[in-house]
Parts: sequence; C-alpha cells; structure tokens
Amino acid sequence: MNEQALSVRDAIISRRSIKNFNGQPVDPESIVEIIEDAAWAPNHGNRNPWRFVVAADKDYVKFLEILREYGVPKWKELSEEDLEKQMKKFAGPGAVTFVIVPEDARQKERLEDFAAASMFIQNIQLLAWDKGIGTCWKTPGFLDNPKFRDDLGVKPGERVISMLQFGYFDEIPKGRPRKPLEEIVTYYGRENEE
Ligand SMILES: Cc1cc2nc3c(=O)[nH]c(=O)nc-3n(C[C@H](O)[C@H](O)[C@H](O)COP(=O)(O)O)c2cc1C
Repeated sequence: MNEQALSVRDAIISRRSIKNFNGQPVDPESIVEIIEDAAWAPNHGNRNPWRFVVAADKDYVKFLEILREYGVPKWKELSEEDLEKQMKKFAGPGAVTFVIVPEDARQKERLEDFAAASMFIQNIQLLAWDKGIGTCWKTPGFLDNPKFRDDLGVKPGERVISMLQFGYFDEIPKGRPRKPLEEIVTYYGRENEE
C-alpha cells in the first residue's frame, strides 16, 4: 500500500480543481496506479459501471491533434490566433482520462451507475491530490460529438461523462465557499418546531 500523506479529511478539504496547469507531463503509470486504487468506489451490484481511456505522453499530443482536426463547431469560426489560444488551454494539463459509463436502459440502474462512476472520479481526484497531481473534471460539448466518440472507440449505449484532466501546478486556487450548514441540513421531524 502506498504511504499516505494526507488524512481522508484533509484530502477532501484541501483538494481544488486545477484549471491552470504548468505543462509538466504526468506519466501514464501514475494515472493507472490511481485508477487501480480508485476502483474501490462503491457501486451497486458490483457492476463496475465504468471504463477509462487514458491519454498521456505522446498519446495526449495525438489527442490534441485529433481535437484540432475534427473541428469542434464553435472553433471553426475562430481565427488561427484564437484557435492557438484555445489549443493552449487544452495543452496545459499533462494528461487526460476519459470516463465512460454504460447507459443502462433502466432509469434506476442508469442513475446508480452514473453515481458510482462519479464516486470513482472523486476517488481519483483525492488520490491524485495526495500525490501532488491536480485534476479537473471537464465536460466540454465535444464529449457527445459522434466523430469524437468514434475516435475514442465509444460504443453505442455508452456515454463519456468526463474528460478528467491531470497535471502539475504552481498555485493552489482559493476554495469557493459552500452553502452554510443551515441552508443544506434540516432535521427529520423538526420542520414545524420553533
Ligand atoms: C460534473 C462536473 C462537471 C464539471 N465540468 C467542468 C467544466 O466543464 N469546466 C470546468 O472548468 N470545470 C468543471 N467542473 C469543475 C468545477 O468547476 C469545480 O469542481 C468547481 O468549480 C468547484 O471547485 P473545486 O473542485 O476546486 O472545489 C466540473 C465538475 C463536476 C463535478
């Protein structure tokens, strides 16, 4: 078992989505190691409703080229200069992982599977944070683009729920405050009490 630097609580509280990566590559072995541990996420019926496509190193560069080639509709209208700027944003992270979930025809199972995969993603984010690797769950429109799905090998009945970016960073962003407890917690049976 890896030596743990952060307590679970500290990892949860200190983790931030990283949106400014410093361009340093993340090796695929670290990502796969994280995925192996994160797989202990709870999931109903042990269906393991998830699979992952990792793009790191030269594979990440290849992905960026494909992204540029197939032309996300909005980008088609960009000037060459703005396109370069847009591509730079994508080039910041050291690697990405696409999270793919089966779309069960039954609504209950579909929701459960999405929930389980989300827990997997949170596990990944916390384990990565513990290793000093930042992540950000991104949902760009192109995840549902048929051409992109083809390139990624996504099958009918599957959905890409996340482009999870991985990378190193120089600054930790400030956390945005959450709603206070009084707004999100009520106590069963006390609604009508003064
Ligand atoms: C389902 C989901 C989708 C998200 N999609 C995006 C996205 O497309 N672009 C983005 O910049 N951040 C995205 N985020 C990250 C959120 O912006 C981030 O979690 C939020 O700002 C809170 O910041 P924190 O994670 O540092 O606490 C997403 C997060 C989740 C859970």
